[in-house]
Amino acid sequence: MKAVGEAPGKVILVGEHAVVYGRPAIAVPVWQVRATTVVTDAEPCRGCMIAAPDISELIELANAPANDPLALVVRLTLSELGIDSIPDWTITVTSDIPIASGMGSGAAVSASLVRALYAAVNAIPTAEIVSRLVYASEEIHHGAPSGIDNTVVSYGAPVWFVRGQPPEVFRASRSFTLVIADSGIASPTRDTVAGVRRRWEAAPDLYDRYFDAIGQLAQEARSAIESGENHRLGGLFNRNQALLQEIGVSSARLDELIDRALDAGADGAKLSGGGAGGNIIALVKEGTAEAVGDALMRAGAKQVIVTGVGAH
Ligand code: PMV
Repeated sequence: MKAVGEAPGKVILVGEHAVVYGRPAIAVPVWQVRATTVVTDAEPCRGCMIAAPDISELIELANAPANDPLALVVRLTLSELGIDSIPDWTITVTSDIPIASGMGSGAAVSASLVRALYAAVNAIPTAEIVSRLVYASEEIHHGAPSGIDNTVVSYGAPVWFVRGQPPEVFRASRSFTLVIADSGIASPTRDTVAGVRRRWEAAPDLYDRYFDAIGQLAQEARSAIESGENHRLGGLFNRNQALLQEIGVSSARLDELIDRALDAGADGAKLSGGGAGGNIIALVKEGTAEAVGDALMRAGAKQVIVTGVGAH
């Protein structure tokens, strides 16, 4: 038996952080990078080993601590499948999604695991099941995640997300191109989310106004994407970035990469995800993706990914 599960990376287009406080946000999958899980049969009575060679991890399911995120997803998925005894499987997880950079690597790894375990018993989970199981593991990575990461990597399509409501998958009526640049600065989302919470507690009215303004931008971005008015998106990215600066999650390094992207012809640019490090995204006209990508590499980006948000 050889069963495979995959899941994409993701970026948040508009609405990070405000989404934690109930405002809407938009996220899209990035299939240029992905997590892959392969399940194979092990010798009888060998139990279940989980290997994550990228991070030099080898865990035996039976002995893994309760809070180990990989083991947790495996346990939850086996229980969802009604499998009580530990199967003799070797589970290998790999990913080329940058870690701690706002591309949803933890959620994607978990989603690929759920899909592979279902495939191992010839079953296919719904996106809703994948998302729910992944959320449980995200709580360990992030503390109190809004749920946007598990949703977008599970549905594999652009999603309109409001905490506590069923996600809405929607379409772009005209495709557009994003250049994603990794600042190379690892920034755990848990820390930036905690920082915003402290500042919100100190000045709730002010921060609620920021969050409302960000939510409004998400509304405008969805209508621009659905109506094919992509030229409006660049300005919305820039206004979102200004608000992300106000709530204290940008950084000199991210601001510099954003300026270089705009100088090189991007229509708009912003940080994406938790901020303080991680990625920026730039909206570009198709012909300028290379020039913007080159400018970002010259400015010290660690990696550049060009992705299309499709009209399919
Ligand atoms: O995983 P990241 O870095 O893309 O962050 C998720 C976005 C936040 O809004 C900052 C946190 C959350 O739980 O939604």
